[in-house]
Amino acid sequence: MDGNGRWATQRGRPRLFGHRAGAKRVREVVESCPDVGVEYLTIFAFSTENWRRTQTEVAGLMSLFRMYISREARALDEFGARVRFIGDRVKLDAKLVKLMDDLEVLTQNNTSVHLTIALNYGGRDEVARATKRLAQDVASGNLKPEDVDEETLPKYLDTCVLPDPDLVIRTSGEARISNFLLWQSAYAEYEFIDTLWPDFTKEEFARLCASYGGRDRRFGGVKT
Ligand code: IPE
Ligand code: MG
Repeated sequence: MDGNGRWATQRGRPRLFGHRAGAKRVREVVESCPDVGVEYLTIFAFSTENWRRTQTEVAGLMSLFRMYISREARALDEFGARVRFIGDRVKLDAKLVKLMDDLEVLTQNNTSVHLTIALNYGGRDEVARATKRLAQDVASGNLKPEDVDEETLPKYLDTCVLPDPDLVIRTSGEARISNFLLWQSAYAEYEFIDTLWPDFTKEEFARLCASYGGRDRRFGGVKT
């Protein structure tokens, strides 16, 4: 969800104004998922690198996340969204983590769309944390080193219950991955679009999903 800061700057407003506008876009996109055939949507809200921003911006974002979850919980649940969070919760404040846990529990039986919010998430950090747990299982004798393969490692990732992404959309004109779902995106299709996240609409989302549907994916094989 990139481009909130620039969107605000273009309007002569503080960056947090852009973050609030960005948060407001989420509901429309989530609620359009069933119409465009998307069962799993993952949004990148805060990365392990975003702590490098000013204290004011980080604190503003954390308070926005708390507000967003409190305010949107009911609408998300009524819509039937099943919400999950990925990322390292250890660095997040206890109040926020409680809201995240409660929202996961509240929506655990929902099936309209699986919404995953990446919060204090980094692909490398996720692989490192997964490897640590995997190593603990090896050390305790629950896992043999020779049994570690491409099927084993993802079971330790935050995304263990989620399918790999088919399509990754990066807003705001940046053509980089920025540590998002590194392992999981090995065969994802990418769309890099100029739209700043607060200007992203369900119409543009529908257009990108339709264009994805027309792509020929071979996963390294040949067309049969
Ligand atoms: C993305 O918007 C939102 C978060 C990282 C929380 P940015 O804040 O990165 O916006 P730009 O890149 O400065 O425009
Ligand atoms: Mg940015």
